[in-house]
Amino acid sequence: MQVITDPIELQQQCMQWQREGLKIGLVPTMGYFHDGHLALMKKARPLCDKLIVSLFVNPTQFGENEDLDKYPHDFEGDKAKAEAQGTDILFAPEKSAMYEADHATWINIPSLGEHLCGASRPVHFQGVCTVVTKLFMLARPDVAVFGQKDWQQLAIIRRLVRDLNIPVEIVGQEIVRESDGLAMSSRNAYLTEEERAAAPAIRKGLLKAADMIQSGERTAQAVKDFLKKEYASTIPMGTVDYIELVDPNDIVPLKTITGPALAAVAIQVGKARLIDNILIEV
Ligand code: PAJ
Repeated sequence: MQVITDPIELQQQCMQWQREGLKIGLVPTMGYFHDGHLALMKKARPLCDKLIVSLFVNPTQFGENEDLDKYPHDFEGDKAKAEAQGTDILFAPEKSAMYEADHATWINIPSLGEHLCGASRPVHFQGVCTVVTKLFMLARPDVAVFGQKDWQQLAIIRRLVRDLNIPVEIVGQEIVRESDGLAMSSRNAYLTEEERAAAPAIRKGLLKAADMIQSGERTAQAVKDFLKKEYASTIPMGTVDYIELVDPNDIVPLKTITGPALAAVAIQVGKARLIDNILIEV
């Protein structure tokens, strides 16, 4: 596995591979790998000839009071894990190499970024869209894999690729969970023992909400009220950021459930902002 830090070097290598007719796969990440990240690499590996994993804690997707400076990192550990998954290039650029001081071009999809994480993190998806577009221009992937844990991010990237005719196939990977149901996240490392013990209730609540809907409840507000009460008792130290039922493609809140619904939640538990979701078919 080669480690590349220079964006232009990556681009030249990928253009060369492209000329040779090799299929390129990309897995964008911010590092501190857990089994969720590794599942994306496993999924991408048989879909391409050359697998590129990017590791870049993208500053433009963090708000002012967020955890950019504290974001966990373990470069040597990540390197070994990416290599064990058969990665060909680990792309780990410096911030200054990705953004010129006078960087001025932004990609934004306001409608899909209005609700859920976009509501409480106003610059977040603009930063994600911009960096992912840059990574697509550098790595020229035929296929790129993203996790359903960040469902809204995946929906936004699918729309970005469709709207701008970017020639890449976007593949989604199901959420990888701890044995107690907690969705794996680099931010789980921030949890205290007590917080970690309560956190699996996030998933349990979502499963109960799915049951409610599958048993006939069609009013979104009733499901949201149930979840609000549920989390107040099961995660008393948590602060709900949002509990929402949205259309899974447009990420617009539903009033009445008449088709597939995505139940999505974000809860601040201590220093960690935890997100999870479940797709409910009716
Ligand atoms: P990061 O949070 O590091 O996540 C990288 C990828 O791993 C994303 O596609 C995310 O959805 C996926 N992922 C994280 N936890 C997962 C889990 N438990 N199960 C399945 N997939 C999981 O998302 C980002 O980085 C950034 O926004 C990025 C796309 C790299 C742009 O900077």
